[in-house]
Amino acid sequence: MRRPTHGGNLAWAAAIAGCQPTDILDFSASINPLGPPPSAWDAIARAWQSVRAYPDPDSRHLRQVLAEVCGVPAEWILPGNGAAELLTWAGRDLSRWDAVGLAVPAFADYDRALKSFGAKTVRCRLSLEGDRVLLPDFETQLGDPSRCALLLNNPHNPTGAGWTIAELLPLVERFALVVVDEAFMDFLPDTAPYSLVPFVAQFDNLVVVRSLTKFYSVPGLRLGYAIGHPHRLQRWQQWRDPWPVNALAAAIVPALLGDTEFHQKTLAWLEPARAQLYRELTDLSFLRPLPGAANFLLVETHRSAPQLQENLLKQHRILIRDCLSFPELGDRYFRVAVKSPADNHRLATALAKVGVN
Ligand SMILES: Cc1ncc(COP(=O)(O)O)c(C=O)c1O
Repeated sequence: MRRPTHGGNLAWAAAIAGCQPTDILDFSASINPLGPPPSAWDAIARAWQSVRAYPDPDSRHLRQVLAEVCGVPAEWILPGNGAAELLTWAGRDLSRWDAVGLAVPAFADYDRALKSFGAKTVRCRLSLEGDRVLLPDFETQLGDPSRCALLLNNPHNPTGAGWTIAELLPLVERFALVVVDEAFMDFLPDTAPYSLVPFVAQFDNLVVVRSLTKFYSVPGLRLGYAIGHPHRLQRWQQWRDPWPVNALAAAIVPALLGDTEFHQKTLAWLEPARAQLYRELTDLSFLRPLPGAANFLLVETHRSAPQLQENLLKQHRILIRDCLSFPELGDRYFRVAVKSPADNHRLATALAKVGVN
């Protein structure tokens, strides 16, 4: 079986561990372990008869619900079959410019989206050396910003860095088109200093892409949305198939976004659990976790990460995310999701054992 380029491939992990996929403790996919919320199941149960009809091609009700949350009119929202589908159309739009700057290491799917439309991608390295992950100097590497575009990700996968509005807005002011993937933004207790959603109405060259997958733990439903200028989103809508958002996914959104109890529970779990995981990993002398703003940590290791991954699977049935699909990281980094305190401790204990070999 080929080594996966995304996290969460339990069939691959189980084949190595010699067990069932359900026996694997999965730290490789950065999904909220508290979800999905029961409110989602109730909404699906109520909506399942709706699968007998085609979904609304314009997702009118869904748009309205998302628009209220984002504080924009409904035409400024485009729901999608996960953020991944919307990133495809972002790739098409970005490819019209002379070059597209990508801060790397980056989520591997950006390459797919950009290559599909022949974009000239310039890989601009983030600096991972100090306490903070620093954005590259895009302009030096790309040239005239009025002819170039950027695809950014905040908070950033895989480093966990969160960049402030003050750091990002000057890029929106200078570059021809800026797409910001905020797939992990909901994990921040206060999004106000970080999210560019409030600036979309002011800059028609800015698009923000959001996902419900991670926070609500529904990767199988496929739910994301873009916030951008109506003219641009109408163009994207004309490029896609007629029914990109399925009826069940559309039906649960009001329940998910209205579930304040789940939201608060998640934020109350994340901060102390992440701090505990960070501490326990820091205690292992061969590891250096980077501080992270989201629900995962990137960890530098003095041991080979693929070797650690294999030993963890074979000896402990634990799956971590190697970073071989991020060419700039290679075999000296791995990424782990934050889970319950007990699971986090199980990971750190297992790492201490496999790390001495
Ligand atoms: C940074 C980033 N953006 C987008 C996605 C895809 O999200 P979705 O499941 O909504 O397609 C992922 C999934 O891993 C991701 O890491």
